[in-house]
Amino acid sequence: MVKVTYIAADGTTTTVEGEAFSNVMQTALDNDVAGIVGECGGSMMCATCHCYVDEAWQGKTGARNDGEDDMLDCAAGEVKPNSRLSCQITLTPDLDGLVVHLPEAQY
Ligand code: FES
Repeated sequence: MVKVTYIAADGTTTTVEGEAFSNVMQTALDNDVAGIVGECGGSMMCATCHCYVDEAWQGKTGARNDGEDDMLDCAAGEVKPNSRLSCQITLTPDLDGLVVHLPEAQY
């Protein structure tokens, strides 16, 4: 299992455990974490799984790919340098303890 902490725009913190090699979006849905919608089921066609990777974890999650860049143009919240589509962040074991922040506009 891989631990992930989601921090809502209002500061509410939720820490859950996801299956290794699942993704950050699916783990949120599986654990009823508010603020991640995941409307397209992870096929990179909706941007309702937008999140901000915590600064301390950016090096481990890697850069977003071209497809993410295009879809993030449709995100409701402000796109920042640490914006990612959470469905594209695979929960590899080295991401145990990952922290992501959720945009207010996704609620
Ligand atoms: S769930 Fe739709 S882009 Fe991530």
